[in-house]
Amino acid sequence: MPEFAPLKNDLILRAARGEKVERPPIWVMRQAGRYLPQYHVVKGTNNFFTCCRTASIAAEITIQPIEQYDGVIDAAIIFSDILVIPQAMGMHVEILDKIGPHFPEPLREPEDLAKLNTDVDVLKELDWAFKAITETRVRLAGRVPLLGFCGGPWTLMVYMLEGGGTKLFRYAKTWLYKHPEASHKLLQQITDVAVEFLAQQVVAGAQMLQVFESWAGELGPAEFDEFSLPYLKQISSRLRARLAELGVTEHVPLTVFCRGAMWALDRVADAGYDVVSLDWTIDPAEAVRIARGRVVLQGNMDPGAIYGTDEAITRKVEAMVAGFGGGKQGYIVNLGHGTQPFFDPAKLGWFMRECVRVGSA
Ligand code: CP3
Repeated sequence: MPEFAPLKNDLILRAARGEKVERPPIWVMRQAGRYLPQYHVVKGTNNFFTCCRTASIAAEITIQPIEQYDGVIDAAIIFSDILVIPQAMGMHVEILDKIGPHFPEPLREPEDLAKLNTDVDVLKELDWAFKAITETRVRLAGRVPLLGFCGGPWTLMVYMLEGGGTKLFRYAKTWLYKHPEASHKLLQQITDVAVEFLAQQVVAGAQMLQVFESWAGELGPAEFDEFSLPYLKQISSRLRARLAELGVTEHVPLTVFCRGAMWALDRVADAGYDVVSLDWTIDPAEAVRIARGRVVLQGNMDPGAIYGTDEAITRKVEAMVAGFGGGKQGYIVNLGHGTQPFFDPAKLGWFMRECVRVGSA
C-alpha cells in the first residue's frame, strides 16, 4: 500500500464527527459525470464500466470536479456505480447510452438465486475497484478526502429483479409479497457482500463511506422496516466490527441516503450511521427537530433549483443553511439527489460558492 499524503482539507471528516467547523463542507452526489464537458472528453468511446474499471480513467474522472470547483468542494467520491455488487455476485450488467442500467438476465423466480455466486471473494471480484480507489487517493494528494460507497440491499435487489429502471417495481414487489423468504435470502447475500466491499474500500484508501438506498421511497413504512432498515443496520454494525478486525483504528464516518423515505428519518437516525443524507422533500428545520442531534444531516436542495436563476439559487441556499442551523455544526451541504446531465457547470459552481458565503457568515 502506498503512503498517502496528509490531508490538507479535512473539513468533511470533522463535520461528520459532529465537531464545530468554520463552514459546512460541500460535495454533490454524482458530481463527476455527464454534465461536465471534460467527462465526455475522457470517457470518449469507452463504455461506462470500462471507465470505472480502468484505474487511471476512474481517478481522472473522480478528480475532475475537484479541479473544476477548486476551493469550494470538500470531498471526492470514487467514480463507480452501485451495480458493481450484482456484478461481483455473478450478474451481467451494462449501462446503455440514454437508457441506463440493463441486466440481460435478471432474477425472476426464487430458483434463480442458484445462479448467484455464494461466498463472493470480494477482494478478487472487485479488485479493480480497490485499485481505482488507491490510485485516486494517491492522485488527490491530500486535496480532499475520498469517499467510497455502495448500494443499499433493497435498491440492489430491485435492479437485480427488474433488470433495469422501472416505474412499477412489478418483480421486486412480487418477491416481497409472494416470496418473502427468498427476498430475505437475497437481501442477506447482498448485505454480506456490501459489508466486505465497504470495509475493503477503506483498506484501499476511502476515508468516508455512503450507502445509497435510492429506492427506499418505494416501500411503505412496514415494508421499509422489514426489508430495508434491518439490512442497513447490519451494514453499519458489521462494518465497524470488520474494520476493527482489519486493523483500521480511526473512526470512518458512514452516511446513509434513504431517498424518498424522509418519513423514516426518526428510525434511520438510530440505524448506526454518523450522517443521514436527505432528499429535498423534507424541510431542513423539521429534519433537525426529528434528528435531535443524533446524527449529522446532509443535503438537501432540490437539484432542479440548479436550473433556476442565480437569485433563486441564492434564496434556496440561504433558506437551506439557515434551516440546518447555520451550518457550522452537524451539517454537510449536498443536493437532495444527484446532478443531471443538463446542468450548467457554472450554475453548480454558483450554488457551491453561495453555500461557502452563506455558511461562513
Ligand atoms: O460522482 C458520483 O457521485 C460518483 C459516481 C456514481 C455513479 N453512480 C456514476 C454513474 C455514484 C455514487 C452512483 C450511484 C448510483 N448508481 C445510484 C445511487 C444514487 C442515485 O442516483 O440514487 C444508482 C441508483 C445508480 C444506478 C445507475 N447507474 C443509474 C440509474 C444509472 C443511469 C443514470 C442516468 O442518469 O442515466 C447509472 C449509470 C451511471 N452511474 C452514470 C454515472 C456518471 C451515467 C453513465 C454514463 O452514461 O456516462
